[in-house]
Amino acid sequence: MNGKIGMIEAIAPTASVRRAYNLHSLYYGTLVAPLERRPRMLALEKACLRADERVLEVATGPGFTLREILKIVHPTNVVDGVDLSPRMLERARRLIRAAGHTNARLQEADARQLPFEDATFDVLLNSYMLDLIPLDDMSVVLKEFRRVLKSGGRLVLVNMSKPSADVLTPLERVYNLLPKRWVPYLLGSCRPVLMEVPVRQAGFSDVQRQYLPQIMPSEIITARASQDA
Ligand SMILES: C[S@@+](CC[C@H](N)C(=O)[O-])C[C@H]1O[C@@H](n2cnc3c(N)ncnc32)[C@H](O)[C@@H]1O
Repeated sequence: MNGKIGMIEAIAPTASVRRAYNLHSLYYGTLVAPLERRPRMLALEKACLRADERVLEVATGPGFTLREILKIVHPTNVVDGVDLSPRMLERARRLIRAAGHTNARLQEADARQLPFEDATFDVLLNSYMLDLIPLDDMSVVLKEFRRVLKSGGRLVLVNMSKPSADVLTPLERVYNLLPKRWVPYLLGSCRPVLMEVPVRQAGFSDVQRQYLPQIMPSEIITARASQDA
């Protein structure tokens, strides 16, 4: 574990993550997403979305949060969503179509290089993705999040987490013991992360963390982008 920040390194080459989540898309919505529903819904409440705001969800997965976002925004207000996995995006498209929404724009993209202009969004939501991002890439992702948010825009993150930096959880021990090539398939590459400090370091303000000790211990981080920070 990196003692200073209390997080273990992720074993997550991009191509393996994409392949693994293409496979996970077959059952993620049924088996995993329900365990994460409460933190995702609480995060959405904290986002305090308004009907006319420009919203981006990074790592939509099968699209459950996106579907809730679309219930809040005005039907003519386009909501953007990106994910690394084409199969997850197919799932999300199907879910959104079945719910009768036509104002979602979904595309394949890596959170490290978002296909949007600077200062485009009022709100950026991202759930259960930073927990599979390698330590050095976290600052790259957060910089991208800050770049695409308008000044004063809101960032809302949900991550697999743990109570504090000095704990090495059983999951982290297993993560470190498994053969590297199995980690994306058996654990989705996800390990507990603590994003409050990295988010502050990335220049966000009003950073707050809520820890949720549930089946899937999670944290919700809320923050504001200030482009001049
Ligand atoms: C654990 S799932 C969470 C899905 C969804 N956010 C949710 O909470 O239900 C992680 C998702 O992040 C996506 N992902 C992983 N790395 C990514 C990256 N660098 N950029 C964009 N999406 C990524 C995966 O394809 C997968 O859909």
